[in-house]
Amino acid sequence: MTANPDQKNNNGFTELVKTLVSVIEEKDPYMKGHADRVAANCVLFARRLGFSKLEINQIYLAGLLHDIGIVYIPSEITQKAGPLTDDEMNMVKKHPLISEKILSKHSMLKAILPIIRHHHESFDGNGYPDGLKGEDIPMGARIISIVNSFDAMTSARAHRPSMSIEHALSELEKNAGSQFDPVLSKDFSSFVHSLKTTPGEIDPEGNQEDNPDNISYKSGENGSIKDILLSFVQKYKTGKVDLPVLPKVVQEIQKVMSDPTTTLNELAKVIEKDAVISVRLIAVANSPMYRGTEKIITVKQAIPRLGVKETQSIVSAIANKSLYQARDLRFKVLMEKLWLHSLATAYSARGIARRISVSETETLFFMGLIHDIGKVLLFKVLGEISSPTSMKEVIENVQEIHTSFGGTILRKWGFNENYVRIALLHQGSHFPNSTAKEVLIVTMANAISKKAGYTLHERDHEETLNMDMIHFVGISPDHVDQIAEETNTLMKETGNIF
Ligand SMILES: [Fe+2]
Ligand SMILES: [Fe+2]
Ligand SMILES: [Fe+2]
Repeated sequence: MTANPDQKNNNGFTELVKTLVSVIEEKDPYMKGHADRVAANCVLFARRLGFSKLEINQIYLAGLLHDIGIVYIPSEITQKAGPLTDDEMNMVKKHPLISEKILSKHSMLKAILPIIRHHHESFDGNGYPDGLKGEDIPMGARIISIVNSFDAMTSARAHRPSMSIEHALSELEKNAGSQFDPVLSKDFSSFVHSLKTTPGEIDPEGNQEDNPDNISYKSGENGSIKDILLSFVQKYKTGKVDLPVLPKVVQEIQKVMSDPTTTLNELAKVIEKDAVISVRLIAVANSPMYRGTEKIITVKQAIPRLGVKETQSIVSAIANKSLYQARDLRFKVLMEKLWLHSLATAYSARGIARRISVSETETLFFMGLIHDIGKVLLFKVLGEISSPTSMKEVIENVQEIHTSFGGTILRKWGFNENYVRIALLHQGSHFPNSTAKEVLIVTMANAISKKAGYTLHERDHEETLNMDMIHFVGISPDHVDQIAEETNTLMKETGNIF
């Protein structure tokens, strides 16, 4: 394909915009990916609303650049942990105006300036900078406002986990009519719900006129999902691309825990090496599920409250959860389901292990947690490098290769063959006598988790538990029901605290 001059121009422009975005990300680590996610999801939502291609391009650009003015606000304010003073707040409230000013120099950005200026207006007139009301606020700004808040709520912060999608939607609903456009927030909510039930049936691009001035909001990769995946896997195997890795603390903690002489102090020291995980572990210890009489502030205090073994599981869960973030809303919805499925599999695996008195119950928890690691990272990659039109195609193709890719990842991460086998074999239904017990337990836990409703798609519920396997593992069918129930209870209490 030969690039026409317009195309070339656009590529230069796209690069310029991406450079600007990277300036904000450099400034504030919590802004990392925020602009990109908001922009991508504004596009999905605007398409759903039937906007023209020109409008979609404008909202994409505005989504990327809306917070650029933040670069002028001192970091002590933007990254302050506690509440802001009035003066500081007034400072922050200047960012839409600063964004507008910075961007006003570029002729190609003229059209999006009103969207940028008004992205913090409230529908009831209580927003800033101009206190515009209702439909006086540009449509694009009203959309960004919703997508922006939704992204902030569903992203993790140091002191709190990400909010579940359902919870975030209910917050939007609560503020519909005051902060948000009530009609648009309803549309957004039904859009997200439609993704939950039929991830394959979206993205009608319609027949919109092409506009030479637009920049590309599609990511680079073309071709079928299968081709994209295969080429990615090949590149990963040969070290040409990287994937996120599990924080080191996960393996270190397993090492210290396998030594029976390990003291609480030693365990705390390992965890404290990872500041992010430490803060989150303390937050979990202070959450309603575990809350004791007083608020604790150190890892050393958290461990006895949580229990030494439980601490190991919680650290693994927190570390794993960070891998389940996705850019594109469609993948975000999928990843949330996959997280719940993995956590439920972990609880079920531990439940089985406890009943047949396997000594390494926390190892089984971890194995349950990572059995679908191939799926997690393939979804993550696809959500970042492609903009697929069919999610059904995505799910089917990922399903096909996730076991072998999961094995590849765990080997690269330095896990031994016991773990690798879990990723490779958990999907099987016939197991020879020589099959390792861990594989059987996790395979069964995977089925129990689906049976309890933690699945990616509806038809998974129908999967029946293999009686041979129950026999093989050595527990009774009654136990299976108990474990499913216990898993459900644990999921209700902890599904969203990590
Ligand atoms: Fe903003
Ligand atoms: Fe799987
Ligand atoms: Fe699974």
